Amino acid sequence: MISYAFLALIPAVLAAQAPQFTPPAFSPTSTSTNYVGQTNGTLPKSTVVPGKVFDRFTQIWIENTDFDVASTSKTFVELAKQGILLTSSYAVTHPSEPNYAASMGGDFFGMGDDDLYNIPSNISTIVDLLQAKNVSWAAYQENLPFDGYQGFNFKSPNYLNTSAPDYAYYVRKHNPPVLYDSITSVPERLARIRNFNDFAADVNASAIPQWVFVTPNMMNDAHDTDIDFASDWLESWLVPLLSDPNFNDNRTLILLTFDENETYEINNRIYSILLGGAIPEKLRGTVDPTYYTHYSSLSSVEANWGLGSLGRQDTNKFVADAVGYKNLNITGNDIPLTNLTGDIPGPLNPEFFVPFSAPNMNATSAGGGPVFVAPTLNLSVTAQTLPPPVNLTALNQTVPASGYPNTTSTIPPGPSPSTTTGGVARDVVGSVFIAVVAAGAAVFMTT
Ligand SMILES: *[C@@H]1O[C@H](CO)[C@@H](O)[C@H](O)[C@H]1NC(C)=O
Ligand SMILES: *[C@@H]1O[C@H](CO)[C@@H](O)[C@H](O)[C@H]1NC(C)=O
Ligand SMILES: *[C@@H]1O[C@H](CO)[C@@H](O)[C@H](O)[C@H]1NC(C)=O
Ligand SMILES: *[C@@H]1O[C@H](CO)[C@@H](O)[C@H](O)[C@H]1NC(C)=O
Ligand SMILES: *[C@@H]1O[C@H](CO)[C@@H](O)[C@H](O)[C@H]1NC(C)=O
Ligand SMILES: *[C@@H]1O[C@H](CO)[C@@H](O)[C@H](O)[C@H]1NC(C)=O
Ligand SMILES: *[C@@H]1O[C@H](CO)[C@@H](O)[C@H](O)[C@H]1NC(C)=O
Ligand SMILES: *[C@@H]1O[C@H](CO)[C@@H](O)[C@H](O)[C@H]1NC(C)=O
Ligand SMILES: *[C@@H]1O[C@H](CO)[C@@H](O)[C@H](O)[C@H]1NC(C)=O
Ligand SMILES: *[C@@H]1O[C@H](CO)[C@@H](O)[C@H](O)[C@H]1NC(C)=O
Ligand SMILES: *[C@@H]1O[C@H](CO)[C@@H](O)[C@H](O)[C@H]1NC(C)=O
Ligand SMILES: *[C@@H]1O[C@H](CO)[C@@H](O)[C@H](O)[C@H]1NC(C)=O
Repeated sequence: MISYAFLALIPAVLAAQAPQFTPPAFSPTSTSTNYVGQTNGTLPKSTVVPGKVFDRFTQIWIENTDFDVASTSKTFVELAKQGILLTSSYAVTHPSEPNYAASMGGDFFGMGDDDLYNIPSNISTIVDLLQAKNVSWAAYQENLPFDGYQGFNFKSPNYLNTSAPDYAYYVRKHNPPVLYDSITSVPERLARIRNFNDFAADVNASAIPQWVFVTPNMMNDAHDTDIDFASDWLESWLVPLLSDPNFNDNRTLILLTFDENETYEINNRIYSILLGGAIPEKLRGTVDPTYYTHYSSLSSVEANWGLGSLGRQDTNKFVADAVGYKNLNITGNDIPLTNLTGDIPGPLNPEFFVPFSAPNMNATSAGGGPVFVAPTLNLSVTAQTLPPPVNLTALNQTVPASGYPNTTSTIPPGPSPSTTTGGVARDVVGSVFIAVVAAGAAVFMTT
């Protein structure tokens, strides 16, 4: 006879392996000792720079979940009903860190791992473009110990299980601005890499900037847990904020997305939802099958505020039309495979190393502005003039941009060029999803 007492033990055993969700703070607008770092004042309120379709863009990244798995979450399905579900949204590679890097720099520079990098300060990010137009920005990193912390990870008391050791809730690999020296070497920029106690202070003070990147901790983002745990976090954090006018008003666009698809053997489709008051009523609960990637968040922001461009993957293949931008229609077998890891040559790829190159100065910007040129950029180092890739691993060397958590002046010079075969160019487009919002609204208004 089956022992019911034995059966009853099974959930308890599973529970020990997978902790139950506990909100780290009383509410998203409350500070908490579980966030470790104290609040550090609020960001100064800056003049709102009006965009064409939205005045604030907030992206929230969850981790390592296949599209079909996210589709099983009631929370995601309910949120999709309030926004636009992007059914052809793709990560750009594996594993995590290169996807985060791509979200700000318009490239992942060949990175195929989650190691510690400092991308040199002549490589620009969306921050350069935003600041050129006075558009304010910040990144909020849950369990970041203090503003601008540059360490590889941070262990803090385990609030999910107080008898367990301290837990690495925060990891650098999920914090895109900290990867770029052009941000970390400028104290005013570094201070905009903030923790969740700062988020609470900023939202209460109605000081949330116009471009925002949110990274939940390693449990809440599903990395160390699963989609149900992340859904519980979204119910406790995002859902209340959606009705808080300091976070979401009728000029706010929110992208809820995943860094990558969990299964490497299939292409890298992720579950992405556009939310927020900027989405026209008639588009809520709809599906958009346009091909998007992480680069789309750059090109959309550039188009919205008329920014310059990075001259990297943020500039690929735009076709302007009367409404704004017409995205390419990429379907079926034309969708590039982005389930690749470490086989793209680049300055962060030790086995296929090539130096950083200048942006493509001929690129057409989604925002209409020029390609941003960093002060110490060497424009003569172009993709065309790069030497062939070198296998640094075979030479017992690491890439020059590796391994300096918080120094900015000690990056060693690159190795001398050698003469193996050349690398392949990627062709991942960055369609603009603002086109959907803008064009969709226009279509509905004229019919
Ligand atoms: C809490 O952590 C302790 C020590 O690591 C462990 O023995 C216990 O199973 C954990 N409890 C739960 C509910 O996960
Ligand atoms: C990951 O992406 C592929 C390709 O788009 C998609 O078919 C699949 O649904 C995703 N993974 C799973 C198992 O859901
Ligand atoms: C940005 O703000 C500064 C200081 O207020 C001002 O001088 C500058 O003209 C502004 N730039 C733009 C593009 O609005
Ligand atoms: C507060 O911000 C300053 C820079 O603005 C930084 O040096 C300091 O470490 C921060 N403190 C905390 C507790 O985050
Ligand atoms: C480097 O970062 C670590 C962790 O943030 C910190 O303890 C250390 O003081 C920093 N070192 C320098 C030289 O800034
Ligand atoms: C958007 O919100 C503002 C401020 O609350 C309000 O004045 C305006 O009428 C709203 N616009 C729409 C289209 O709802
Ligand atoms: C990428 O996905 C494709 C399509 O599912 C598959 O054929 C291929 O083997 C995958 N590549 C890797 C490196 O897993
Ligand atoms: C995109 O291409 C597919 C396949 O060729 C086609 O079925 C679809 O109607 C096209 N969509 C648009 C918006 O042109
Ligand atoms: C940009 O255009 C110039 C002039 O047509 C050409 O010589 C150069 O190779 C182009 N550069 C790139 C990166 O395509
Ligand atoms: C970037 O700066 C480094 C050192 O300051 C220099 O060696 C490199 O050539 C520069 N790269 C580009 C593309 O400007
Ligand atoms: C690079 O060198 C390492 C060490 O010799 C080797 O394991 C690896 O396969 C090489 N990679 C390539 C792409 O040749
Ligand atoms: C790399 O290091 C290994 C082990 O230390 C050594 O056997 C090998 O000769 C070195 N290779 C080069 C190219 O220096």
